Amino acid sequence: MNNKTMESRVNELLARMTLEEKIGQMTQISGAGEEREELIRQGQVGSFLNVVDVETYNRYQRIAMEESRLGIPLIMGRDVIHGFRTVFPIPLGQSAAWHPELVERAAAIAAREASSLGVNWTFAPMVDVARDPRWGRIAEGGGEDPYLTSQLGRAMVRGFQGEDLSAPDRIAACAKHYVGYGAAEGGRDYNTTLIPEGVLRDVYLPPFKACVEAGAATVMSAFNEINGIPATGNAFTLRQILKGEWSFDGFVVSDWQSVIEMVVHGFCADEKDAARVAVTAGVDMEMVSQSYRQHLAALVAEGKVPLELIDEAVRRILRIKMRLGLFENPYVDPARQSVLLAPEHLEVARQLARESVVLLKNEEGVLPLSGDVRAIAVIGPLADAPADQLGCWVFDGRPEDTITPLRALRERLKGKADVLFAPGLESPRSDSRKGFDEALEAARKADVVLLFVGEDAILSGEAHCRAFLDLPGAQEALIEAVAAEGKPTIAVVMTGRPLTLSRVVDKVHALLIAWHPGTMGGPAIADLLFGDESPSGKLPVTFPRAVGQIPIYYAHKNTGRPPQQIDREIPLGTPLDPIGFFSSYLDVEPTPLFPFGYGLSYTRFQYENLRLSRERIRLGESLVASVDVQNVGPVAAEEIVQLYVRDLVGSVTRPVKELKGFQRVRLEPGERRTIQFTLHTDDLRFHDRDMEFVTEPGQFHLWIGGSSVDGPRASFEIVE
Ligand code: BGC
Repeated sequence: MNNKTMESRVNELLARMTLEEKIGQMTQISGAGEEREELIRQGQVGSFLNVVDVETYNRYQRIAMEESRLGIPLIMGRDVIHGFRTVFPIPLGQSAAWHPELVERAAAIAAREASSLGVNWTFAPMVDVARDPRWGRIAEGGGEDPYLTSQLGRAMVRGFQGEDLSAPDRIAACAKHYVGYGAAEGGRDYNTTLIPEGVLRDVYLPPFKACVEAGAATVMSAFNEINGIPATGNAFTLRQILKGEWSFDGFVVSDWQSVIEMVVHGFCADEKDAARVAVTAGVDMEMVSQSYRQHLAALVAEGKVPLELIDEAVRRILRIKMRLGLFENPYVDPARQSVLLAPEHLEVARQLARESVVLLKNEEGVLPLSGDVRAIAVIGPLADAPADQLGCWVFDGRPEDTITPLRALRERLKGKADVLFAPGLESPRSDSRKGFDEALEAARKADVVLLFVGEDAILSGEAHCRAFLDLPGAQEALIEAVAAEGKPTIAVVMTGRPLTLSRVVDKVHALLIAWHPGTMGGPAIADLLFGDESPSGKLPVTFPRAVGQIPIYYAHKNTGRPPQQIDREIPLGTPLDPIGFFSSYLDVEPTPLFPFGYGLSYTRFQYENLRLSRERIRLGESLVASVDVQNVGPVAAEEIVQLYVRDLVGSVTRPVKELKGFQRVRLEPGERRTIQFTLHTDDLRFHDRDMEFVTEPGQFHLWIGGSSVDGPRASFEIVE
């Protein structure tokens, strides 16, 4: 069906609808229940969330199609965040893979599995840029960088929706939480955000724009306020930017009760007022709370909400239902469930988990483990924690489908080496040391010690923020005790966020960040430990040394007094002396523990011969930056080649570095390849004081390297 036919179908249908039926389309209800059926029959509900049972789905859909006056199908939402039955790494882990094509395949698999149970809409991707690891929801997004997050979001939208949204195995995506939700003050969920418009437009909005450009069917308005205006009542972000400037033609759904929470915010007097504010701002569908159903009709009758606004909202919702093909194919064949956990799904889960792991330390090449080890101690509360390794926001994955590292290692080493398992702690948050002796005993008997530590899944995700970012419980003490046995010791950290690992790094020989790796985390980690593949993930977010450094992110501004190496030991009685007044802390190094983009490999990559096709270009032109990357180590491996730029002088100060491109490349030992990036002057645009999106002529630096702090540098100039 072409667009024109679809629009006229939408309008024809709209013309036949009563106001109550229109408001019904704008109403979303959570969960199944008997009284629901009557509402569907009466046309008083347009959508459900959390109905994930094919029989109920088909029954509800049949009532909507055959027993409601106009036969409008329901759209059924679910949080399919990082997989469905097959669980992939948490989104932050997926981001660490820097592999959009693979992320797209994973999202397509999630769509195939979810749609087999009647889910036709996911509340994903979350593309909130997050620069505060205390925020529990940092786990759900792409990390600190707008460019990387945009790539991740776009890949997920493409994966969920495919080329043709009406295909039975595709589902509608929802870019969330629009907007600024990740900027919550102090990293405390739902907290206030203060975001200058230039920062909003340069940092927080681009991933949403990328999703809209990729065709995202829906957008979710966030819980937070932005500069005093709640995101769910924000006509500037919703109506002006999203629907106006970007011409978004899908629909906006509120977050869970975020419409009526505007009363709690102190922005609306009561729920009726909240309904008016939300619909006026551009929220087309209300999730869970029922202020639209209760008050919109009266608001229209009183002339407080023009009917055109209601029509516009309904038009958008019907449009997406049509694009989904629901009018033609509303039902789901229960036989389709056989796709759940299909072998190729598990294979992609394994690959993505493998590529998401970041190697942060590998002293004396302790990894990969040699095939000759005879006894391995497997210690730590996350070695065999099938639910925790799935991570946050897992509604449909199951622990019993999960392969833990312990199980994977036992299977792999059967008949070849002993696996001595002693968790040491009952759970990551446990303080009891009664399991330590057994763990030490295992370490003593082993040739090598693997420590699986980190956060349990419940420590990240919505409303699960932390003020301290150390390993919880007695895990550091466990690591210290085990490391004192003097065996080669490898720590694998499963986590939903960056942790402060300064004290851990020094005690172990190797350190891997595995995030919460999902269903196939165990085999993926085993593949890496034994060197079937080299680790290739890179950090999508900065790892601080201390919580007090937060916010700490690579694309910061320079300030007038950038940090310098200073002597942090100030002798007692030192008089105040303005020499050495820099932007830094007295009690911690100015650098992060591990920078954005960082990650080691079992081989080494050398970057040489950075050259630019031109060192002077005009606005509107491009240049090609090339670098020779050589694998100078012993094994084949993949590297993420990263391009960064700095705009030296701006009418508004510019970040010290900004990611502008990356490529994942595989190189054999000794192999050398020229990697090229094309950079257009439009890639350097930012919002100036007048909110014009401009590239300003002047000098630029450009780096290509394996992290945000490595690689050769070149310079170029842009002239008018
Ligand atoms: C979350 C959303 C989620 C929704 C539906 C809310 O609490 O903020 O991200 O999609 O619930 O479950």
